[in-house]
This record gives sequence, C-alpha cells and structure tokens, in this order.
Amino acid sequence: MFFTMPQPRSWTDVFLSFTALTSLFTPVVMVKHENFKTCTQAGFCKRNRAFADDVAQLTSWTSPYNLDPSSVSFKDGQLSGTILKTVGKSGETVRLPLTVTFLESGTARVTVDEEKRQKGDITLRHDSKARKERYNEASKWAIVGGLEISTGAALSRDTEAGSTRVNYGPAGTHEAVITHSPFGINFKRDGETHIKFNERGLLNMEHWRAKVEKPQPKEGEEPPPETTEETGEDESTWWEETFGGNTDTKPKGPEAVALDISFPGYEHVYGIPEHASSLSLKETRGGDGKYSEPYRLYNADVFEYELDSPMTLYGAIPLMQAHRKGSTVGVFWLNAAETWIDIVKSKGSKNPLSLGTKSVTDTQTHWISESGILDVFVMLGPTPKDITQKYGELTGFTAMPQQFAIAYHQCRWNYVTDEDVMDVDRKFDKFKIPYDVIWLDIEYTDGKKYFTWDPLTFPNPKKMHNQLDKRDRKLVAIIDPHIKNTDKYPVIDEMKSKGLAVKNKEGNDYEGWCWPGSSYWVDCFNPAAIKWWTTLFKYDSWKGTFANTFIWNDMNEPSVFNGPETTMPKDNLHYGNWEHRDVHNINGLTFHNATFEAMVERKKGEVRRPFVLTRSFYAGSQRLGAMWTGDNLAEWSHLAISIPMVLNQGISGFPFAGADVGGFFGNPSKELLTRWYQTGTFYPFFRGHAHIDTRRREPYVPGAPYTEIISQALRLRYQLLPAWYTAFHEAATTGAPIVRPNFYVHPDDAAGFAIDDQLYVGSTGLLAKPVVTEGANSVDIYLADAEPYYDYFDYTTYTGAGYHTVQAPLDKIPLLMQGGHVIPRRDRPRRSSGLMKWDPFTLVVVLDRAGNAEGTLYIDDGETFEFEQGAAIHRKFVFDHETSALSSTDIGTQGPKTAAFAKAMAKVRVEKVVVVGAPAAWEGLAEVAVSEEGVKESKGGRRAKVTFYPAQGVKAAWAVVRDPKVAVGKGWRIQFA
Ligand code: NOJ
Repeated sequence: MFFTMPQPRSWTDVFLSFTALTSLFTPVVMVKHENFKTCTQAGFCKRNRAFADDVAQLTSWTSPYNLDPSSVSFKDGQLSGTILKTVGKSGETVRLPLTVTFLESGTARVTVDEEKRQKGDITLRHDSKARKERYNEASKWAIVGGLEISTGAALSRDTEAGSTRVNYGPAGTHEAVITHSPFGINFKRDGETHIKFNERGLLNMEHWRAKVEKPQPKEGEEPPPETTEETGEDESTWWEETFGGNTDTKPKGPEAVALDISFPGYEHVYGIPEHASSLSLKETRGGDGKYSEPYRLYNADVFEYELDSPMTLYGAIPLMQAHRKGSTVGVFWLNAAETWIDIVKSKGSKNPLSLGTKSVTDTQTHWISESGILDVFVMLGPTPKDITQKYGELTGFTAMPQQFAIAYHQCRWNYVTDEDVMDVDRKFDKFKIPYDVIWLDIEYTDGKKYFTWDPLTFPNPKKMHNQLDKRDRKLVAIIDPHIKNTDKYPVIDEMKSKGLAVKNKEGNDYEGWCWPGSSYWVDCFNPAAIKWWTTLFKYDSWKGTFANTFIWNDMNEPSVFNGPETTMPKDNLHYGNWEHRDVHNINGLTFHNATFEAMVERKKGEVRRPFVLTRSFYAGSQRLGAMWTGDNLAEWSHLAISIPMVLNQGISGFPFAGADVGGFFGNPSKELLTRWYQTGTFYPFFRGHAHIDTRRREPYVPGAPYTEIISQALRLRYQLLPAWYTAFHEAATTGAPIVRPNFYVHPDDAAGFAIDDQLYVGSTGLLAKPVVTEGANSVDIYLADAEPYYDYFDYTTYTGAGYHTVQAPLDKIPLLMQGGHVIPRRDRPRRSSGLMKWDPFTLVVVLDRAGNAEGTLYIDDGETFEFEQGAAIHRKFVFDHETSALSSTDIGTQGPKTAAFAKAMAKVRVEKVVVVGAPAAWEGLAEVAVSEEGVKESKGGRRAKVTFYPAQGVKAAWAVVRDPKVAVGKGWRIQFA
C-alpha cells in the first residue's frame, strides 16, 4: 500500500496526487506508524495487557477459571471437560468446553470453546448476519495431517487430588498435568516440566454478554464510567472501536481469547513470523534493548517497513519454539484473528536452596487473539528437527518446487512492453548471465484488469513466451485479489453475478480501493469461488498464457488502500458468514490456495507442479509455493535484516523464502547491489525486484567489475542447484528448513543460539556469512564445533569453535564447507537451469577430522508430479577413511516410474570428484579403482586418473578424480589408495 487520501474523487486523482507526492519526497523511508495500531489502540490487546499488569501487581491472585472435576472424562486419547469461569461479584459462571487431545505424534492439542456462543445462544447487535460461534475453522485451512489420535495415551495411575494426569507421547515419556483449580496444564517430558499453561493466571476468554445501555448523560452531567459495575473491566472498546476514521461495529461484542504460556528454563524463543526482527525474539515489556510493544500478527501491507520492530508485516505463522541446550519445545497457536504476543524473560534458579546451582532463565509469553476458539498444539521436541517435523506433519511440508523456481528470477515493476521483456532476455544471454524467470508486475494488464494484456504494450504475448521457451525460461505474471469495478469486464460481472465477492457488514458486495481504483475482492473461503477462479486460468480463457506462464499473488493480506490499517473492515463478511475479524490472517492463504488449485487444473492432462509466489501467508502456505518479505528498501540495514527473516521462515515451516534483491524502494549503490546478489544466492527464493520509480538494475547494468561479480554469484547458485534441490526435497519430506540457523544445526552450542547473520544450506555443511555492511573487506564467521571448515573457493582451513576472520573483498562471498559432507554440484555454466538437465555432476567430498564424509543427492524431472510415483534418483554418498573408498548407495523410494526415470538418466554421469582435506598419504597417487553396479569390468578393472594437490600453508590438500565414468543414478565405488 502507499497512502490514504481523504475522499478521493476518482482513481486518477489518487494516482496523480500519489505521483506528485512521491516525486516530491522520494525516497520516503519511514513506515507510516499512524496507519497501524499499537497494542493500546487495539481494545482487546489493551484490555488483556492491562489485566496482566493488574495481576502482576497483586500479591496473591487466583485465576477465575476452574475445571469442573465432575465434568472430566477421558476416552480414546481425548480428555474432555468443562472449565467454569466465575464472573465478577455475582459469581455467575460461564461454561467453557475443554478438550485435550493426545496425538500419535506425541503432540497434544488443547481447545477451549464457549458454550453459549457454540450453541448460538446469543444475540448479535446491529442486526448482524455474522455467525454466532467462535471461529473454529482455522484448522480446515492450516491442518492437513498428523491428527491420528494416540492409542497409548492413558490416565496416569499416580493420582493426586486436584489434578488429572495423562501419560502420552513416545514410550509414555510425556505427561500432561491438568490442574483443576485454577485450571492450568503443565506439560512434562521425562518428568520435567517444559511448558506451562496459565501459570500466571492470564487465561482470559471474553465471554458473551448483552450490552447494558447506560443512560446518556444530561448536559452538565459527568459521562458514565467506562468500567462495568459487575467486574470493573474497561468496556470502552467492547461494542465499537474507531481507528483512523474507520469504525468497527463489533456485533459480537468482546470475544478475545488469551493465555500465558511459560517455558521454564528456556532463554531463547524463536518463530512467530513475520517481523523485521532478530531470530531470537526479544522481550516486549520495555527496557534497554527490548521492545515495548508485543509482537503483532495481523497481516498488513506495511510498506517501507521498520527494522528491529515487533510491528506486524504481511504474513503470520503463530508457531513458537523455545530452545535451550539439550531441548527444544514448541507451541502452535491456531488462531486466525489479530494476535499479539508479549514476551518476558526472568532469571530464576533451578533450585534456590542448593548453593552453586547455575541460575536459569525462564521465558514467559502471553498470547492474545481478538476472537476465535482457543486451539493450541504443544510439541515437546526434544530437538529443533522434531519441532519442524511435527509441525510439518500437521500443516504440510513445503511443496516440492519445479527446478526453475529455485533458480534466479528477474523482476521489476515493470518490464513495460513485450519487446522490453525480450530485450532483457537477450541481454542476459549477451552478458552470459544465467537466469530462469522474468516477471511482469501489474502494468502488463489492460487498465489493471487481471487476466487481460495491455493491447498497446503487450500485443504479442505468444512471441514473448516463445522466445523465453527457447532457453527453457518462464514468465511469471501478477494476479491480485482485487477485481476492478468497471464495465465490459467479464471477470467482475461473473464474480458479482455468482455472488463470490467478500461482503460488507450489511451483506452486500464490499467495495474498496486498490490499484485499479474501485474494486471488489474475490472471497476464496468460498469453494464456489475457488472453482470459478480455476476457470480463469485455463489457456483458452486467459489468452496469451502458456505452459511457461506462472503466477505471482500480491496484495492478499488483503491490501485495501482506503480500509482500516490498509486492509478490510473487520465486520466484513466471508463465506459462511464468518466475520473478517475471525479469518483475517488466513485470507492470504485462501487466495494463494485458489491460484494453486487453478494452476494444477490449467489444462487437462498437463500435470506440472505449480509455482505461485505469495506475499501474505499463514501456517500451511508452504504447501502452495514461495513467499517474499515484501517492500524493503535499497539500504544496507534491509539487506542485513533479510537474513534473520529468511532464517525465521525456515524454522517456522515456510522455508521457500527470499527478500527483494537490491531492495524494492530506492536505488542501491553498485556495491550494495553486488552484496545483495551475493546474499540472495543464499535465499531459497532468489529474485531481483525493484519499485517502478527506480532505475534499471539488471545484473548487466552496473558494468565492470560489478556485473562480472554478480554473474559469479549467479553462477555459484546455478552450480549448487543440485545441493539446493536436495535441500528442498528434504524440506518437502521432513519439514527441515532449507537454510538453517546455527541453533538448528548445533542445538547444544549455547554460544550460538542468538546467531542469525550466517546460514547453513540444507544438510550440505555449506556455511555462508554474506557481507551486509558497506566497505567491508572481511567478516567474522562463527564456527560452532571443532570440525575443519574449508573455504569453498580456495580450501583455506579454519578450525576451532569461535569466530574466525574470513577475507571478503567485493568479489568474494564468505562461504565455508564444514568437514564431513559430500556436496553435489553441476559445474558447466548454462543460460538457464532447464538447459542443465542432462549435465554431469561434480561431487565435492569434504573430509572431517576423522577423514570421513557423507551426503545425499536428490534428482527428479524437476517439473511433473511423477516423482510421487518414484521417478527420482536419491543417492547417499559415503567416504569412509577406513576403506579409503567413496561409495554411492540408493536411498530412494521405489515406485512404478522408478525404472523409467533411471533409464532416462542412465547417461548422466559424475564427471569429477574433488576430495578436500585429502590425506597426505595420497601424494603420488595417480589412479583410483572404479566399480559400478551392473557393469562387468574387463580384466584389471576400471581405473580413473587422480591428481593430488598437497596442502599449502593454510590451504588444505585436495585431490581430483577426473571422469570416473560412473552414472549418477547407480551404485558405485571409487577406491582411493
Ligand atoms: C506491492 C508489492 O509488494 C510489490 O512487490 C509490487 O511491485 C507492487 N505491489 C506492485 O504490484
């Protein structure tokens, strides 16, 4: 979004004023704070924070929520009961049905609903057509599996008055201790408590109540107090709230849900993207170096966002993990409404009585959502991998992308004509710079009508697509969710006549402003809307698109220029009459999902993996494509923050992430642009993008030496595509991040838990620390263990835990290889990844201290879903120092298409093996013996040439085997010495 105009007369007025404004003030570099709420400006957040403050001041406080012991029952892995909330002076009780479900995976799920609303036993104000229940369908969008109920979970035999205990989890190692009065749950693993619910007594479900009308004060009389007589609560924002000139009518009254969740003994918590913040989350209750606002999750178009801030951004994943040496645990707060999370840490002591016991830090969090049921998943680890795996089982793993999608993407707002696109495409070739995808932003359309081409500037999309296809390149076109309100546009006519738009509070189609001016929004919560959306992408419907056209979904928070906080009014209505307030954070996912579905069904029989980029996201969006971090600035600080942001996406289940390379707003210096490309080489999603007011900056623009240095960075990405693809496969099958922070790779290295400026690529042992400061000539890279780490380019060896200085002049990316890995590469420079399909592989064997190494390689056709039927090669390479041999074994899953794929790949070979840290004893070695499965060797066996390069000073010894002539998809063995 950009700005809100008072009562624009027409869209042209808005546009002209905008242009005038931007030309006066470009670049504008501050987020418009006044457009976004603070906690105090969000009634429910203010109320719950105030409640927490009140409780903290009391010397004794008892939460008014009690589990009625007589209601508790346990059957088939699920505990049910009713929590009774006692209200104010009257002692009235509110019934809150509780379930605690113990899942086979070892995850526990806690839900709390409100009986009155559940039964629809309430009245809505203003004749609202909204649903009466608390929103309980977030799981429909977020959860795709992992819900098998545990058969082993059982009530504990050790009973204790006042609590119910359930043993569950692997080998019964987990225990949930549910206390009745007040209600709370302690989750234990191996007898130790790791997570506590309601320890501080901040559980709060704002129950339904009728509005008590107060008499209007007569002239001269004091207005009535804003607190209720019954409970003394601040009711000023219960029934209506106004922000930035927009009034939310709140027909359901106050309905927040809040809970404190504590992690005893845990100093670090991570996750809850998206924020421009550090990986290890900060405290939010003020103080030096701490925030004073909670982390906010309310998907919004926050352009020119502020750094080091808990402000909300475009997407929300309410997954938090707490980590300490030896243990990681996590909670997934499944709620789609606006949510705020306060974090405080306190130094406690494990055992205050035993002198000398090291004091530990506890982290306490306070989760506050505006509406919906309480629905929380609790994962007890014990490793970071367990959290990403279990969370992935619930919400789905990253979709395996097409090969091209992980190569380089060239975007800007806008490539202005089809000739322009073809010209850029030719220039990449001229300068021998690889790229796979060119992107079209909103200007390609005829007057911002999606699914059309501007007839003057894009008269020949076919020619353009054909030219791209010659080098197996793709085109991505943007499609946004706002549909232009105009005549002679079948898309808007159909959407309105079929009743598929989001509705306003009166139940009429909601109209607002976005790029096209007056617009309506497709409601992708509606199955009929998804079906209809699918028809728009068919080749014969959207003419000028082809098999190499893919999609970019933007503005799907949704961004509404004249809406509250640049989004939709909360009292708008979606399919099923759910209020927008209830579903807001899922909105972006539903639109992304509809486009994904449409891409799957574009043409009968054409089943290729879709590629859809989204700006807004929720838990589960990883199943649908990639995300990027939105409208950043061409500034060094934005380059720096992109690393923790991308790392955080990785550990939060949506790892296919990247930031606009070069920075969206403003013009980067050539140095910044170069450093950004070097950094982007390590984003899972790697795209250059720029605002419409910026100068051209394609890699060939800056000239010598920058263009060559950027080209090298791009070639490095292409060379390592096999390693990246393998990392994506791991993410797609285990939920492991594609780029990983130190704590994830070294969970016991306490000194590295807060490190978030360097990243590991998958399980390859590649460790990059991109340069993110101006004028730097070196970086200090942190090594967590005692393995040797080798410079990727010249094998300089770094050994010893702690910081090491790595030289990093402009043409150098600080990139190390941890000993112990085999890294697959393809070394032949090509113009696009598609042209590398039959290229041979290089294996880089990086030996560890003991002289061993292992690694994996995953290959499939990079395009279709045939890998699901076994059309893939999955190998494990092991170098064993005892036998001095490198071997390749099959770790793939067989299926009906395995043999055919193996046959198609039979001629693709390993052309080079490089052994880094080669033993000195290999000096003089000239040949290695090679054997391959299914190949009969002639007498004397097959041999290949090896060259040994002795160590030189700090540079490790290495050896190269040239052309061992082994097939990449087969079993083989190379015997050294
Ligand atoms: C906002 C997006 O964040 C940006 O990337 C895009 O260029 C503009 N919308 C125009 O579509």
